[in-house]
Amino acid sequence: MEKVLVLDFGGQYNQLIARRVREHSIYAEIKAYNKITVDEIKEEGYKGIIFTGGPNSVYDPSSPHFDERILDLGIPILGICYGCQLMAYMAKGKVVSAENVSEYGKITLTVGDHPLFEGVDRTSVCWMSHRDYISEAPEGFETIAHTDMCPVAAMADDSRRLYGVQFHPEVTHTQFGSRMLCNFLYRICMLQGDWKMESFVESKVAEYREKLKGKKVLCALSGGVDSSVAAILLHKAVGDNLVCVFVDHGLLRKGEAESVERTFRDQFNINLIKVDAEERFLSKLSGVTEPERKRKIIGEEFIRVFEDEAKKIGKVSYLVQGTIYPDVIESGAGDASTIKSHHNVGGLPSVIDFDEIVEPLRDLFKDEVRQVGLKLDIPEELVFRQPFPGPGLAIRIIGEITKEKLDTLRDADAIFREEIKNAGFEHSTNQYFAVLTDTLSVGVMGDERTYGRTVVLRAVTTDDFMTAEWSRIPYDVLERASSRITNEVKGITRVTYDITSKPPATVEWE
Ligand code: XMP
Repeated sequence: MEKVLVLDFGGQYNQLIARRVREHSIYAEIKAYNKITVDEIKEEGYKGIIFTGGPNSVYDPSSPHFDERILDLGIPILGICYGCQLMAYMAKGKVVSAENVSEYGKITLTVGDHPLFEGVDRTSVCWMSHRDYISEAPEGFETIAHTDMCPVAAMADDSRRLYGVQFHPEVTHTQFGSRMLCNFLYRICMLQGDWKMESFVESKVAEYREKLKGKKVLCALSGGVDSSVAAILLHKAVGDNLVCVFVDHGLLRKGEAESVERTFRDQFNINLIKVDAEERFLSKLSGVTEPERKRKIIGEEFIRVFEDEAKKIGKVSYLVQGTIYPDVIESGAGDASTIKSHHNVGGLPSVIDFDEIVEPLRDLFKDEVRQVGLKLDIPEELVFRQPFPGPGLAIRIIGEITKEKLDTLRDADAIFREEIKNAGFEHSTNQYFAVLTDTLSVGVMGDERTYGRTVVLRAVTTDDFMTAEWSRIPYDVLERASSRITNEVKGITRVTYDITSKPPATVEWE
């Protein structure tokens, strides 16, 4: 199988680069720059290398550098942003740090004739994010693109097959970014494109079959898309050695626990243990209002419940989790700063009773996880189920969590979901749910004054949940939901609709 190495220098778009390569049907592997040597790169047989961006300046004494011999391997290399500057620096070009030359955001790019830019307009928009810049291409390189501020926006040494771009072709804001990556892969690395999602499934199943042979594997099943896909993938690899534990923490949506049980036990014949832990979670959460504390408590309690179950089952070597890539970066697992600690990553307590955690989907984006689900023959209804966060309704109730508030929210949420579905809108919005605020307001019902809670309806449209737009749900759908919620759910006097995108807001309210 052809494969490309994404050599990671700590930039924020590294997984996105790998994903873009996969989109062009080529397998990409990400390795931290300090976890692989030039000799190992040679042995692995990579057909192309991409140096990622990174937050440093090549002149920082602590900035990541690499063995210069990599430039002489004869493997085509594309350096992106910091990766491009590093390549210029290693090849003795001129990299300059200058405050007044920084470029951020959409910039007009002018390209020359070069195979890297085949099919690319002479001027187009690219995405820049840099302070240092290359003032002079190294010897042997020609300048093949520029911007107003950046004399060397792209450079090429065709004889050594070394290429660098100062901008980010992997982000969608770069108009021809996908085309340029495609050119690098197919015209410069001369790849054939032999990778498909089936290959991911096959190689993961084979990998785990071998690695987890004869071992008991425990899967934390939430019933959401990610953990379901992870569980079924592992079931394919280890069969009955997989035990799924489904914790009903009392923070689930209406009817959800029953549906998970039906699907996994009856339909897929998977060993399923359902733990009723509502009281345990609610007592731990009692009096807690701070969102991050809620998440941490739920994350830790999850692990404790699994540990207790694992003890009953006997020796369990591996714990499977449905962590996907956006969870990893938003929890600050790499160099990116922490936005929220997703319970399945940042909230893990340090003392754990398992030998190892297995996260088969850690490198994938949501839509890729869905593709894996379809390849595993998981029913579409489950594969396209909207995401539901691990901490459940706890992060959709502002303030303290009580059973009464949970029941209220469950009812309001079920009505909203039903109305979206009845209107045929469940596929044009990616996530939709109700939030229960702690704002009380005055209402009137019949001739009576009421004083009750406020529900917020939230619906977002997004590709990858890293950014999201609020969905333009038709007014009449919102009206029906609002009228039903105030009529059918006790204690609600007001319903509002959230019209904030991400950023600046996040999808969830906490
Ligand atoms: P945010 O609120 O971070 O949500 O913009 C992005 C996506 O992630 C989901 N989400 C979570 N999923 N554990 C999860 O498994 C969590 O702690 C968590 N927090 C948010 C959220 O529902 C949305 O789909």
